[in-house]
Amino acid sequence: MKVTAVLLAAGQGTRMKSSLPKVLHLLCGKPMLWHVLEALKSATTEKPVVVVGYGAEEVTKYLGDAAQTVVQEPQLGTGHAAMQAESLLKGNTDYVIITYADMPLLRGETFQRLVETQRLNSGPFSLLTVVADDPRGFGRIVRKTDGTVDAIVEEYVATTEQQQIKELNVGAYCFKADWLWDALHRIPKNPKKGEYYLTDIVEIAVKDNLPVQAVVHDDFIETIGINTRVHLSEAEAAMRQRINREHMLSGVSMMDPASTYIEAGVKIGRDTTILPNTYIHGQTEIGEGNVIGPNTIIRETKIGNHCKILSSVLEGAVLEDDVDMGPFARLRKGAHLKSQVHMGNFGEVKDSTLHEGVKMGHFSYIGNATIGANTNIGAGTITANYDGEKKNPTEIGEDVFIGSDTMLIAPLKVGDGARTGAGAVVTKNVPEDTLVVGMPARAIRKLERKKKGK
Ligand code: UD1
Ligand code: CA
Repeated sequence: MKVTAVLLAAGQGTRMKSSLPKVLHLLCGKPMLWHVLEALKSATTEKPVVVVGYGAEEVTKYLGDAAQTVVQEPQLGTGHAAMQAESLLKGNTDYVIITYADMPLLRGETFQRLVETQRLNSGPFSLLTVVADDPRGFGRIVRKTDGTVDAIVEEYVATTEQQQIKELNVGAYCFKADWLWDALHRIPKNPKKGEYYLTDIVEIAVKDNLPVQAVVHDDFIETIGINTRVHLSEAEAAMRQRINREHMLSGVSMMDPASTYIEAGVKIGRDTTILPNTYIHGQTEIGEGNVIGPNTIIRETKIGNHCKILSSVLEGAVLEDDVDMGPFARLRKGAHLKSQVHMGNFGEVKDSTLHEGVKMGHFSYIGNATIGANTNIGAGTITANYDGEKKNPTEIGEDVFIGSDTMLIAPLKVGDGARTGAGAVVTKNVPEDTLVVGMPARAIRKLERKKKGK
């Protein structure tokens, strides 16, 4: 049995007041569209079709090969949008799920339920509804006496009586494919707006005496549709709760989930504790038994087990096990801290590897360097890696003791077991097991000043 999803995403999203297509607005770090496609995976068997229009190029580029796309131009309503998928899907699938790309909270299980309902329905399609006090401008579901659906009435044409109906059209439908395409062509143009409404397909089935089933959903939150940025923030809060809940149920502790911001797709191992005001973004993977936060930002980073990270910022870094960081430490792209590294306050590491057991307690900058195991980096040590034109490497061996406030002028090598005295300015390679000291500043030549912008 082939089930294919068609996602309607051609609308501009005027009410968002944005130049970015609505479906590319982010929800917990991922575009709305990503969330819908994720949810649809478990309910479909084929690659989805996304109907694009406004910002088609941007949306298509984002999708890559995650979906097939078809352009709707001009955009003449949701029924007209659905028709665009016919050329790709006719004869190629048994069931078609049609849904709107601005409903990012709908879950995979919900789409599965919809498909299951339709498989048992002798009629041509089933749709998802929700009962709620706040209608939010949704279409109203009019039922027949036998319980099947008679019509969906859009809010702006609903009579006062119909406006009181509490059952609403969520915007997810599962159709028998061999019935759908012809029925779409029979949808009449709406006389008021000149558009073709997908919701009018109910009346086509009713005219042919075919039963339309409704799956009544009990979770209103899941059916939040996004038309404005206020809705977007509500959906963000709901999605964040959902993500945090899933992590907690799989063994992650959170002292205050309401102030814990974890993006979709982040992985966290058991017995890790996330403390308040912590942000975890992107493709970040965190192992077991770590304590992270409070006040920490982590992006695109891999963290092993049993690390402690306090009030720090980590981007594009790798940490192995038992690393102890912070408060106020910063890792930038390419920082690799091996096991048992200790990094104290006000340190910065970029494009560097710190081998096992390295200690840098206070106020240091390490860039484009490798630091051997068990080396101690004294307070205020700087790798002067940039000569104004290019970045130069620094290589420090094992068991080295770098004295406080040492300037390491790269390119430079410091051999195993060497020591530098406090305040040393090291300009030449240091052999193994050697102590170097001093070098007071003195004028050595006149500089030619470079003009800015040249
Ligand atoms: C729609 C439903 C309404 C339902 C509500 C739930 C219709 C006529 N109405 O209203 O019954 O309660 O969703 O959220 O279907 N789109 C296109 N091409 C178009 C027009 C729209 O692709 O020509 C896409 C939009 O990008 C959007 C989706 O279809 O993702 C829904 O369009 P929108 O204008 O948001 O419909 P609603 O007014 O919310
Ligand atoms: Ca909508």
